[in-house]
Amino acid sequence: MQFYLRLILIWCMMMATSNIQADTSIPAIIPQPQKMKLGSGNFSLTASTRLIVAEKSELTETASYLAKRVFRASGFDLLADKPSDAKGGIIRLSIDSRIKGEEAYTLSVTAEKVDIRAATSAGIFYGIQSLLQLMPPKIFGNSARQDILWNIPFVDISDAPRFGYRGMHLDVGRHFFPVENIKSYIDYLALHKMNRFHWHLTEDQGWRIEIMKYPKLAEVSAWRKETLIGHAGRAKASFKFDGKRYGGYYTQDEVREVVAYAAERHITIIPEIELPGHSLAALAAYPELACTEGPFEVGTYWGVFKDVYCPNEATFTFLQDVLSEVMALFPSKYIHIGGDECPKDRWKESQFCQELIKREGLKDEHELQSWFVRRIEKFLNKNGRKLIGWDEITEGGLSPTATVMFWRGHMTDLPLSVAEGGNNLIMTPTSHCYFDYYQSKRDSEPLAIGGYLPAKKVYEFEPIPTDFPQELIPQISGLQGNVWTEYIPTWKHLQYMVFPRLCAMAEVGWSAKDARDWSDFSSRMNVHFQRLDLLGINYARHMLTAEDDIIRVEHIAKGAGISVTPSPTAKYGSDVNALVDGIQGSAGFLDETWRGFEGFDFSARIDLGSQREIKELSAGFLSDHGSWIFLPTDVRFSVSTDGKRFSDVGSSSYNVMPDTDSRARREYRVSLEPTTARYIHLDIKTLQTCPEWHSGAGGKAWVFIDEITVK
Ligand code: ACM
Repeated sequence: MQFYLRLILIWCMMMATSNIQADTSIPAIIPQPQKMKLGSGNFSLTASTRLIVAEKSELTETASYLAKRVFRASGFDLLADKPSDAKGGIIRLSIDSRIKGEEAYTLSVTAEKVDIRAATSAGIFYGIQSLLQLMPPKIFGNSARQDILWNIPFVDISDAPRFGYRGMHLDVGRHFFPVENIKSYIDYLALHKMNRFHWHLTEDQGWRIEIMKYPKLAEVSAWRKETLIGHAGRAKASFKFDGKRYGGYYTQDEVREVVAYAAERHITIIPEIELPGHSLAALAAYPELACTEGPFEVGTYWGVFKDVYCPNEATFTFLQDVLSEVMALFPSKYIHIGGDECPKDRWKESQFCQELIKREGLKDEHELQSWFVRRIEKFLNKNGRKLIGWDEITEGGLSPTATVMFWRGHMTDLPLSVAEGGNNLIMTPTSHCYFDYYQSKRDSEPLAIGGYLPAKKVYEFEPIPTDFPQELIPQISGLQGNVWTEYIPTWKHLQYMVFPRLCAMAEVGWSAKDARDWSDFSSRMNVHFQRLDLLGINYARHMLTAEDDIIRVEHIAKGAGISVTPSPTAKYGSDVNALVDGIQGSAGFLDETWRGFEGFDFSARIDLGSQREIKELSAGFLSDHGSWIFLPTDVRFSVSTDGKRFSDVGSSSYNVMPDTDSRARREYRVSLEPTTARYIHLDIKTLQTCPEWHSGAGGKAWVFIDEITVK
């Protein structure tokens, strides 16, 4: 591009961003309150404003939270002794049992008074979050500003959350983040009125919590000798490692400190101790917990490992001891025990497991897993706690009191069957809740695990499945965003993956379903970004323009009739009209416009409805080796005027190789002399199974196609 042209473009881009000047006089509260009436006029917070706390003992902590924030940004000490006739007005916090709902609050601002009422201190805390977001964004700054008018607009807010469980998860196993970061994360949740922090503390690649009875968990399991460089979706033989010892763990004192910090912010921490899978790090220290002899080493790359806990007595003693220490540290009623992605290979090979299956009258290894989980659940129940597990805990029978964390979004029938069985659910499907996925199709995005989840799609998440029976809706406790950290080594990077998707998730969890409005949310986010800036949070600002990422293509087959044989694998959508809808599949296979084929060749036939002149045929395919998706080996195009006799017009072939096009979108295209035809036929040859060099060697390989274009 010419230098001047480039300069002009940069200038235009600057103008475009400076146009998005956020109007801070209109309340921009995230998540949007249920009811809010704006008056005209402002309460002015000044050095003489007093904070009055009606129920001192219950609200002391919450009041001091507000006072500290205000002091830091303004230098005003709301709790200082001041004359009662102070002209500065008052902020009053009071417990009022007439406010219905455990987390509900009212907030009214008039010229003389800011009045926050709730039946609980949690409600008061959420009222304070709204109050802070009614103030100029600089209230989130860290230096006392003299140049700001601390105006608070007259409002009447009556607010309560839609869901009781509003969570964020964080995997500290793949990458470890110190206590200061964890406290920041808890602050992010608090700012957005989220109330559960799911702390994923154990993984194949690192055990992160000190357990007094098993010191080798800190000495051995918390450390890996090195870490994979780049993506794991490649030939294992080509893996390169950084050669650097990596790890860390939280001492029990640190855990207590974090638990207290969260409690002050009305956040319950749900600890996760993974079993029976994702347990390689523990086996590295205590190989007697495995079905084979070992030795094992703490995982150094990402994936699912076959060495898992053996359901023997040594394992149960160990896990019960661990859980006893965990329960002593975490007051949460719910303890998460994982339960996902547990390969059954070792149990199939183990004589001990096979005998156990017979002795207990179990059908197979899936039932053995259920037996394992139920035994742990009984232990938790005996100690007054309840179990949460990933949705695999439903395989092989589910105990009636377990809560299921639904993550495999494609298992669309699962939530209903779980709820019908009487169990509660927390909704966290990959399709809308996995913040480790790419958030845009830009080449500049940092390496991610795969997938595609723009903030707008998070915002469109509806936790209650369509046609869910009214009487079962209360069994959907709420929702959660998950942050798996295989590809997130630093805190800045983590912030980028989390924001603004967390803001969107918070609004889904709190605000009324009918009130959700993306363009209104986006304009509030432009104010909210100023807050995030002051809080030192690195975020993906471009995510509010995610809509621009959709690539529309005009061509003569758009909207044409199409049939595909065999049909696509239903898991990622079966409507083949998506292949000729004028919207091109993006960089991620979850964007709902791709169609996937798991392990077989297929053909597509298009009927244009009338004879047309054709000059070019093409089809787009996705490659994402990390997700077992490969480009087809050959695509052959033919055309016909009568739908019976087809003439071959060319083909496009591809040789799938390791570390080439590992994540890419490719067009298979043929140009032809202008030809009249009505029907177009494509024959697509695929690998069918993952190649020898791939980590999934021998498993079924996917092909993803979109869009088929005719010009
Ligand atoms: C999961 O993502 N394996 C729960």
